[in-house]
Amino acid sequence: MDSVELEERMNIMSRLCHIGQELASLTDLDELLAKIIDCCKDICSSDKASILLLDESRNELYFKQTSGSMGEDIRRIRIPLNEKSIAGWSLIHRETVKIDDVSTDPRHYKGVDEATGYETKTLLAVPVMWGDRCFGVVEAVNKLKEPVFTDADADNLKILAQQAAVAINNVFLVEELQNFFVHTIEILINALEAIDPYSRGHVMRVARYATSIAREVGITGKEFENILYASYFHDIGLLRKDANILNKRDPLHPVIGASILEQIKILEKTAAIVKAHHEYYDGTGFPNGLKGEEIPLAARILSLVEDYDEESSSINAGRSKEKFNKDFFEKAFVRHDPELVKIFKKIVEPGVN
Ligand SMILES: [Fe+2]
Ligand SMILES: [Fe+2]
Repeated sequence: MDSVELEERMNIMSRLCHIGQELASLTDLDELLAKIIDCCKDICSSDKASILLLDESRNELYFKQTSGSMGEDIRRIRIPLNEKSIAGWSLIHRETVKIDDVSTDPRHYKGVDEATGYETKTLLAVPVMWGDRCFGVVEAVNKLKEPVFTDADADNLKILAQQAAVAINNVFLVEELQNFFVHTIEILINALEAIDPYSRGHVMRVARYATSIAREVGITGKEFENILYASYFHDIGLLRKDANILNKRDPLHPVIGASILEQIKILEKTAAIVKAHHEYYDGTGFPNGLKGEEIPLAARILSLVEDYDEESSSINAGRSKEKFNKDFFEKAFVRHDPELVKIFKKIVEPGVN
């Protein structure tokens, strides 16, 4: 290895160390996979890169994330896990595959090139594994500047694949914990609603309405999760000892609920939403009489759906749903964020103008 090669090698090693730290800090799977692909292209000097994940239930590989213009078509492709594809062969044998001329390799799965209109010429595939657990295969596609991928590229991609496996494993663990957390919350909500039969189903309806609006508004990722958790916990302040659980307009419950949630690290951001879940856009809400965009967007959503569900279950007696909705939305356009009211009206009254 001459001094230029040595310097290049040192440079890549230093980048790989940095990449390892970056990958470990990501907790969103899509973001993580996108980062792995960028890094793969970067360290292998490839034109494209992709990551195929293993679907154990169907024994298939699928493209969860690809680089740039390979597009949506590729995401619909499912490749059976067998030796008839390069990715499948690599995962089954747990070996790196380096191909200098894909057209002569019988394992090349032509369906991908056909779907994308992109011609694969050279390929480097490395299994992504952590201990006994196989997650999928990362592929660098078409070497740039040089004719073929080198042994050094293969070594570098192996290191990246190991770092990727650790990071993916962490994300899956977090997802499993979150799943457990959400199910535990649901059990807790059911138990709490048994105390107050009048609000049975309220929390789940609020969560369904709030997340429907959030989706329409384009809220995703952690912010979406915060709205979901805020919906679950929004009235937790009503459960304090001296509160009248039937008084849904108890002025203290948003503040007390927020102070409970602030103690829990994962729910810190949720606390601020809960605190403002009875603030009204026109300034007539509580506890602080906030107005307009002083109220966080997530809290404006929650306030609207809280109002709707509380009124529909307590004041609706004797009115048809149509009459209730008409009265409610007339008032809501003044009291709540009109843009959100428009969206919510379409959700609860599809087909009504
Ligand atoms: Fe509520
Ligand atoms: Fe409330």
